[in-house]
Amino acid sequence: MERIFACRVDELEPGSTMTVDGPVPVALYRTEDGDWFASDDSCTHEQFSLGTESDLEDDEVVCPLHMARFDLRTGKALCFPATIALRMHEVVVEGEEVHVVLSETVADGPGVEAAEGSAADCAVA
Ligand code: FES
Repeated sequence: MERIFACRVDELEPGSTMTVDGPVPVALYRTEDGDWFASDDSCTHEQFSLGTESDLEDDEVVCPLHMARFDLRTGKALCFPATIALRMHEVVVEGEEVHVVLSETVADGPGVEAAEGSAADCAVA
């Protein structure tokens, strides 16, 4: 599994996201609670960079283009129009450095796995 340097801890404020260049673009998320997550950068509904522009709500990321929502702990698509899970990557924080361990499936290049069950319409908050 390939590991890439993402950023320094102080380069991403809590509640923020960024895109990390690498063998594949990666979206890096830091929640308001200080948890770190990483996924493939593009929304699974259409090509849209979640690292560049998305909204974090607790442990979920919302794609602003069509409002799909994903669980950052599992990658599961929680509501339409997305029905395919985000491919998640492990985040390792060592001191002041944040690294991402790319999932092996990325290196092989297959499509993402479909989310278990079916995504539902999100309730509008
Ligand atoms: S591109 Fe993300 S919801 Fe449509």
